Amino acid sequence: MAVVGVGSFGRNHARVYHDLQKQGAGVELVAVVDSDAGQAQAVASQFGCSALATVEELFGRVEAASVAVPTLHHRSVAAALMAAGIDVLIEKPLASTLAEADELISLANANQRVVQVGHLERFNPAVRGTIPLITQPMFFEVHRLSVFSPRSLDVDVVLDLMIHDIDVVLSFVKSPVKEIRAVGLPVVTEKVDIANVRMEFESGCVANLTASRISTERVRKLRFFQPKEYVSIDYGRQDVFQIRVTQEEKFSLHNLMAFAETPSTLPIPGVTLTKPKVESEEPLRAELKSFLNAVRHREKPVVTLEDGRRALAVALSILSAIDEHTKRARIHSL
Ligand SMILES: NC(=O)c1ccc[n+]([C@@H]2O[C@H](COP(=O)([O-])OP(=O)(O)OC[C@H]3O[C@@H](n4cnc5c(N)ncnc54)[C@H](O)[C@@H]3O)[C@@H](O)[C@H]2O)c1
Repeated sequence: MAVVGVGSFGRNHARVYHDLQKQGAGVELVAVVDSDAGQAQAVASQFGCSALATVEELFGRVEAASVAVPTLHHRSVAAALMAAGIDVLIEKPLASTLAEADELISLANANQRVVQVGHLERFNPAVRGTIPLITQPMFFEVHRLSVFSPRSLDVDVVLDLMIHDIDVVLSFVKSPVKEIRAVGLPVVTEKVDIANVRMEFESGCVANLTASRISTERVRKLRFFQPKEYVSIDYGRQDVFQIRVTQEEKFSLHNLMAFAETPSTLPIPGVTLTKPKVESEEPLRAELKSFLNAVRHREKPVVTLEDGRRALAVALSILSAIDEHTKRARIHSL
């Protein structure tokens, strides 16, 4: 393995591969590559591998690589690796444009490479624990709020943070997006720092997503309703619970109101609260293990290039909707 781009996030890939190597998981971190020689050297000495300056130096030395360079360079770096027969995990968002994403898809097919996209929340144990609970999700309320930090400021909050939830919601709903309405504002940077979107799917499902990188608190929650059920995921705490109305004949609004007044009156007859068992694991570790497995067995990865393209397409549509709203509301002229 190699990691290309060992800045603030890529160094985590190197750490996890190094840990897996130490644990005898059949993987070896051969090298890290970074155009910043000091950065490459620092990470290489920490994890005992070679420090290289260009991807070409990897050819013939590794079977697979993580690509964690800035999004603008995903296409050129991943294309060079794939052409040299190297399987790749490309960080999210897959690319800057849909044309680049399409090019990556053609190159992966032409070179028969295993390519995974780094939507790591799919590997969050709480998200994985939720999949068996999904029946007919109809309404999502999602919040991803972060305290400001001067990283990833080359992209807006939609491509930086909201894209995690876009991918998770798309994987749960499995229906084409019909309509997008959005609002977003630059607050402390030149790009959109806070955004809210209402997405409606062909299935009738509606998802409300809010993402902020200028919050005073850190919140990462996804909640959804489906007939007779409410499911709540806390990405950060890695937990999920489900509230279900089970026996309509015994369930009464009176009991529910009594619970609202005195929450200690649990259990409510006819209502069950279930907490699926979730084994805590660092999502990045689960993601990289899954990638290695796909590489070894030449299998389709859990998060495919097509998934990455779909999330990017929706994120770009949200940005267009934000743009339209900005013009309509004459925000720049305020
Ligand atoms: N999955 C997640 O949760 C998550 C979190 C943060 C960042 N990311 C993604 O990871 C990627 C990197 O983000 P970051 O915050 O670590 O950026 P960063 O700027 O901190 O690091 C990028 C590194 O890549 C190097 N680099 C740039 N061009 C290069 C090239 N052509 N060849 C080799 N090295 C090159 C830079 O010198 C730098 O060290 C982005 O795509 C970002 O969206 C994903």
